[in-house]
Amino acid sequence: MRKTITFIISVVILGFNGRAEKVDFAKSIQGVFEARCIDCHGPKKQKGDLRLDSQEAALAEVVKPGKSGESELYKHISLPADHEDIMPPKGDPLTKGQIAAIKQWIDAGANWPKELVLISAKDRAAAEADANKLPEPEIKEAPVSDAEKAAIASLTSGEGLGEKFSAPLVMALAQNTKLIYANFRLVGKNVNDGHLAPLAEIQNLSELDLANTQITAVGLGHIKGSKNLTKLSLANTSIDDAALKQIEGLTNLMSLNLYNTKVTDAGLTSLRNMKFLRKVYAWQSGITEKGAAELEKALPNVEVNLGFKLAKVEPKKEEKKEPKKETSKPKKEEPKPEKKEEKKAEVKQVAFNKKCPVSSKDVDPAKLFAINFCCGNCLADFTKAPAKHIANVKGPDNEKCPISGKDIDASKQFVIGFCCGNCLADFTKAPAKHIAKVKK
Ligand code: HEC
Repeated sequence: MRKTITFIISVVILGFNGRAEKVDFAKSIQGVFEARCIDCHGPKKQKGDLRLDSQEAALAEVVKPGKSGESELYKHISLPADHEDIMPPKGDPLTKGQIAAIKQWIDAGANWPKELVLISAKDRAAAEADANKLPEPEIKEAPVSDAEKAAIASLTSGEGLGEKFSAPLVMALAQNTKLIYANFRLVGKNVNDGHLAPLAEIQNLSELDLANTQITAVGLGHIKGSKNLTKLSLANTSIDDAALKQIEGLTNLMSLNLYNTKVTDAGLTSLRNMKFLRKVYAWQSGITEKGAAELEKALPNVEVNLGFKLAKVEPKKEEKKEPKKETSKPKKEEPKPEKKEEKKAEVKQVAFNKKCPVSSKDVDPAKLFAINFCCGNCLADFTKAPAKHIANVKGPDNEKCPISGKDIDASKQFVIGFCCGNCLADFTKAPAKHIAKVKK
């Protein structure tokens, strides 16, 4: 009995490991050499005068195709772990599986695509990281001038804003930097163009939040020369295309928030020279998907965030209305008019809650979870007692009303806002756990 089993096992092992079987170099061997050998036997170092990074070099010396027993490479990797000549000399020996694969590879002829040159795993990772690295602006901290000191003092004292209101926040971006972070958002509607005049003196202005303020083009004129500015929020202001022209020289800008402004696609031309730009928040502005796509084409590192889209839902609505008329069919061959209709059906989404139900931080208008309903009555029922109905909600973007089970009307939505994508993801995993904290 035992003999039979041994026999079967041997057959199976031979079947898979027989000499004739080829080992794919790129798949099974290259990775081992790159991770464990090329650092010492490659372009940078040639320990023992040996290179293992090309077929030519390896096969000339230490690999004898078809003969693992005569190959110095196999001998060195298969030495006892405590042998002084074992390769690699540092770290763990190769695993049994790796050694077996190398043996098999040599015995099957040591195939190595001729043009394939190995690069050490470290160098490969470094090269990849370099290739993926987004360009960074060169920010030069300026010596703090007396004018800059005076401007900061004047702003932080709340000068001109009256005693009733808190002063804007103007502070160092971090320890050990002269770069300045300025936030007028909390003073909000009480801030007008005149209040921004001292900003022109702050050479080290790096991040500026003007959200909710009354600024116009004149106000932006004060930061025209803020070359160190990398992050700017104009959210919830009446800034328009013409006003945006004021900042077209801010070529180090990396993030620009245009949420709920009057900026349209035409205004995006003012951003064309901002080659470090990565994020443009454009939700509830006049910027369309077409304008966003054009900017993303001109500046490949930019991501224009237009907010949560209902793309999956909208076309269905169109279909439902149209099939009644047979004559509407030819329309489908003209893509342009269809697209226009989709845009009209777009639903503007505003979060019901101001604070993130997961973190309690302020809501990011672009991080939304929308629940669709069939009618206003169902939406009202849900709003009254979300906890009661949340279990029926199957993910955002649902196509059936969670209360009635009927088809949804895309304009009847309950929209929950979050501070960030992580919280949104946490909520999506367990809505019932967090729903009680969704409050107006
Ligand atoms: C940390 C550096 C280092 C690493 C990593 C390393 N080696 Fe070596 N290797 C050496 C040194 C040093 C020698 C020369 C030893 C001597 O001459 O005594 C050597 C010699 C050899 C030799 C003998 C050359 C000859 O001419 O006989 C072979 C074969 C070899 N290495 C293969 C490998 C293989 C295969 C790997 C990866 C599995 C590897 N080495 C990883 C440092 C390294």
